[in-house]
Amino acid sequence: MKNIAFVCLGNICRSPIAHGVADKYIKDNNLQNKFSVQSYGTANYHIGNPPCDNSIQICKKYNIDISHLRAMQINRTNINNYDYIVGLDSSNVRDLKAMSPKRIYLLGDFGFDGADVPDPYFYPSIDGFDDVFKMVYDSTHNFLQFITRED
Ligand code: 4NP
Repeated sequence: MKNIAFVCLGNICRSPIAHGVADKYIKDNNLQNKFSVQSYGTANYHIGNPPCDNSIQICKKYNIDISHLRAMQINRTNINNYDYIVGLDSSNVRDLKAMSPKRIYLLGDFGFDGADVPDPYFYPSIDGFDDVFKMVYDSTHNFLQFITRED
């Protein structure tokens, strides 16, 4: 069993989308005995909170329910529970590398030329969330296919 953690800043907008997309991919492809997924924020701002409304709504549009997720913070201890740690942007990756020498990846390296997943926390409406969802969806699938081949 390989444990995967997706990490953004607050664990309420971006990494919960990756978490939901990965859970669905794992279920749809019967990979539950190979991979387990969690998501975290590097910050403590939103510990215990559900994903932001726009992230819940955009996932729902694509038949993914993330409403049960609750924000958690990654730290030097719990990071050791994971085999693959995936940051949603380069500042997340920098913060993660300062915590652990383990395998830290940037999600945008899986099909988006190393681009950061934009932080939609300050988007005024759900509009920008479609682009964020598509980027997270494609790169999360590419990442899971990459580690399936590696395994
Ligand atoms: P996330 O978005 O990192 O995608 O969950 C954010 C959530 C909260 C804040 C920033 C980004 N904040 O500053 O509270």
